[in-house]
Amino acid sequence: MKVSVWKGGAEGRFHQFDVPRHPSQTVLDVVTYIQRALDPTLAYRYACRVGMCGSCAMTVNGVPRWTCRTHVDKVVRNDRIEIGPLKNLAVIRDLVTDMSGFFDKWARAKGQFKPSRTRQEDFARVPPQSENRKAVDAAIECIGCGVCYAACDVVAWSPDYLGPAALNRAWTLLKDERDAGRLERLRAVAGDAGCHACHTHMSCTERCPKKLSPTAGIAGLKREVLKATLRGEL
Ligand code: SF4
Ligand code: SF4
Ligand code: FES
Repeated sequence: MKVSVWKGGAEGRFHQFDVPRHPSQTVLDVVTYIQRALDPTLAYRYACRVGMCGSCAMTVNGVPRWTCRTHVDKVVRNDRIEIGPLKNLAVIRDLVTDMSGFFDKWARAKGQFKPSRTRQEDFARVPPQSENRKAVDAAIECIGCGVCYAACDVVAWSPDYLGPAALNRAWTLLKDERDAGRLERLRAVAGDAGCHACHTHMSCTERCPKKLSPTAGIAGLKREVLKATLRGEL
């Protein structure tokens, strides 16, 4: 098949390679073949190869995906595939993006757990059946791969927007009964670049390889911000 692969930085271009097909071949196998057999300068990133780390995320035929979990059979069209770096992130080189802007937004959304107990106190226990725990049961499985972020049009239009992953993280911490950062987190996500900027396009939810719904978490944040505003807390 003919594979077009992005080479260079933001000003790069697609280069074409001929890659042999084989059964159960993944897009990551294709990239690895090109780097090992055709172009040793090709830069790309992966770690686990089994859908656990999220570091192999790239744009395949215009759609953000984990390449290790994407079979060629599923995406090949007329014996062609196009592979580029994730969108909405700066390109370092070839297929490698700089994730620092993405994680800076987790920090801006107060995505760090703020303990309410000291190490001298007993473990804080979260009852598995509590309403708060059930509300984030799926959302806590996010592995920070950036696929949803690359799929979000609002991030593309307004680069300041915190984006689905950081807001999903803020949502999980807001529902964490052990956390003591509720108000500062609500303030962090209530601004113009926060949850209200989401247009509920659902691209993040559609594309998340773990089938999470950042859109639902963002809707939850909107409700919590409204309630806190009506109570005069914000
Ligand atoms: S919500 Fe899904 S797509 Fe977004 S960073 Fe987490 S695991 Fe990746
Ligand atoms: S639902 Fe919101 S966060 Fe998700 S892709 Fe759409 S605008 Fe972005
Ligand atoms: S290499 Fe880890 S998820 Fe693909």
